[in-house]
Amino acid sequence: MKKPFLLWRDDWQLGLECLDKQHMKLVDVLNQLHRFVVHEDTRHYSDRDQLCSQLKSLFDIARRHFKAEEGLMQAKGYPGLGDHRREHLMLLAELREHLREIETESKPFTVSTLTALKHWQIDHVTNSDRLFVDFLKHQPLSDDGQNFEAIAKVQAQPG
Ligand SMILES: [Fe+2]
Ligand SMILES: [Fe+2]
Repeated sequence: MKKPFLLWRDDWQLGLECLDKQHMKLVDVLNQLHRFVVHEDTRHYSDRDQLCSQLKSLFDIARRHFKAEEGLMQAKGYPGLGDHRREHLMLLAELREHLREIETESKPFTVSTLTALKHWQIDHVTNSDRLFVDFLKHQPLSDDGQNFEAIAKVQAQPG
């Protein structure tokens, strides 16, 4: 079987179930998008429509995930929230720009565009998201008496 474009690695796991599941979902969506870009002739109008809808779903899933993650950071008083949010906003702006380029046919959406998104995802999860988890692990019991293990089981609500 062919190796997926982005293969989930266990060492990317942060130990926060709610966020790990959402990160795995983002990996799935990137792989779907890659299969589509590799197999379809995205210059055709109908294929372009499908590409837009796949990219929109990546945008929506990323946006919901970022909202959930930022909500958790805010609830836990994470001091790096502002910088972290900026990284999220830049990625969303980039996805919006790709959508515009596809819609206006000003720039093709290629595997190298996807490769850049893939590297963003790996880099962000293994560095920026992990910094938040490290912060949580070093916190004494939170105001509501929770330790890291209890927080890890909380389902962040995307929405
Ligand atoms: Fe994340
Ligand atoms: Fe993040």
